[in-house]
Amino acid sequence: MKKLNAKICFALLCFVVASCASKDDENLPSTLDGEAAGGDMTVYLSTSQAFGTPAPNLSAENLSLHQSGDIAFEATFVSNPSPRNGGLGPVFNNNACNSCHPADGRASFPSNVNAMSGFFFRISLPGTGEHGGPKPVPGFGTQLQHQALYGYEPEAKLQVTYSERIVELADGTEVSLQVPEYEIINPYMELPVDVQLSPRIGMPVFGLGLLEAIPAKAILANADPDDLDEDGISGKANYVWDVVTQSMQLGRFGWKAGAASILAQSAGAYSEDMGLTTYLHPIPATYGQTNGDTAITTIEVAREELEKVVFYGQTLGVPAARNFDDVQVIKGRQVFDKLNCKACHVPSFTTGADYTLAEARSQQIYPYTDMLLHDMGDDLADNRGEFEANGKEWKTRPLWGIGLTKLTSGHTSFLHDGRARNLTEAIVWHGGEAEDSRNGFIELSAADREALLAFLNAL
Ligand code: HEC
Ligand code: HEC
Repeated sequence: MKKLNAKICFALLCFVVASCASKDDENLPSTLDGEAAGGDMTVYLSTSQAFGTPAPNLSAENLSLHQSGDIAFEATFVSNPSPRNGGLGPVFNNNACNSCHPADGRASFPSNVNAMSGFFFRISLPGTGEHGGPKPVPGFGTQLQHQALYGYEPEAKLQVTYSERIVELADGTEVSLQVPEYEIINPYMELPVDVQLSPRIGMPVFGLGLLEAIPAKAILANADPDDLDEDGISGKANYVWDVVTQSMQLGRFGWKAGAASILAQSAGAYSEDMGLTTYLHPIPATYGQTNGDTAITTIEVAREELEKVVFYGQTLGVPAARNFDDVQVIKGRQVFDKLNCKACHVPSFTTGADYTLAEARSQQIYPYTDMLLHDMGDDLADNRGEFEANGKEWKTRPLWGIGLTKLTSGHTSFLHDGRARNLTEAIVWHGGEAEDSRNGFIELSAADREALLAFLNAL
């Protein structure tokens, strides 16, 4: 009798163990790593200010510098003559950094594409220009300024039309994608027929010091440009002409990693987006449009102002991840790994010990980007190269903070031109090297899909 009982118990135990093991959530951790997404620069705030808060570890001196950078970032420029913030234009795209990066987040896709917004076209001719970069279009340069001061003509106007494409997910859910078609209209002078255009929208600007502090070696360790490991995912570094060091450098910022540093990107923004001179661009890129009657003789944005605005981007904190002990979120992270999203959206890096800003040194961060270029397929292609990036390649976007987009920015437009209206659309647009991940997403059960989205929304 005793013996029999023991046998039954043993059998029962086996059954219990076996049934546990057969569940998907076997070995689920009780919480996920990386809640402090920005290391010591993490901001524990999930309000509309989540992207616009200084890192909590700044020294008092650096906090005050950050605050003056904040003012520079919000400065609205006007035409000359003006006692303050003059020099805008004559042609430009917008008049303030934060008009294109509202609340330090991303711009929404404008309902009127020709209004001042965070959206513009970069342009170029086939082939390469100086230092291997995009080849400027005579009379237009490499960016189309669609606004102008009174008495000037904008370089051109923009046009977008959409068609709808329905993609059916495995469980029957239909996802509607809006497929954009872009055109340049009403150019102020004739445009060559072979002009290439790349639509871009302003993206979030927090956590950039930490991204700048990732050692180049750590980024290059994930590069596999010829896909030698044959996993279908290459990953290529961009090398770009850097106006600051006057040399070729690893590209880190912009949708195609076309700028080596926050400084290069910001000086470029003053010049190209607003028509303002700095010591790095003493003649604004928009100058070619004017006839000499507004000849520029001064530096319109002082070096100190430029450095403040750069410091601002370097020192904005990163919002902490949320709900990392929620079972659905934990499950979603498992789906993220299973679909190999992490091959490009690399979860974690440790920043370098010798970065200029002490507060950003030696931090374990969770940006979910490899900082590399990937072929994302024909549907996302702009067919315009930028240094090493070809017309199908884009830099993997960081996913930190992405779940707070609606709260901070009031919309959920994603991807380089804001075409995706939510996270599901953004994932379904993935192609090229991300084709398998995308197809895996389409095949997911509704429960797994919801879990993945819950994880992304927790970042
Ligand atoms: C007309 C809109 C516009 C204005 C004005 C503007 N930006 Fe941007 N910003 C963009 C767009 C679009 C991009 C993406 C550019 C690209 O892909 O090359 C960008 C990219 C950036 C990035 C790179 C972020 C990253 O994660 O890669 C930084 C930094 C930045 N801008 C800072 C600034 C600063 C500082 C100013 C003011 C001096 C400014 N921007 C003004 C639209 C704008
Ligand atoms: C081959 C590399 C690669 C893989 C694999 C990949 N992504 Fe991406 N992801 C990118 C790139 C590159 C972009 C930017 C594309 C663009 O803007 O056109 C991006 C953009 C995104 C965006 C929009 C981000 C933004 O700021 O607009 C989301 C969300 C996203 N990916 C989620 C995922 C998820 C979830 C998976 C797995 C199912 C995944 N990605 C797999 C490379 C990849």
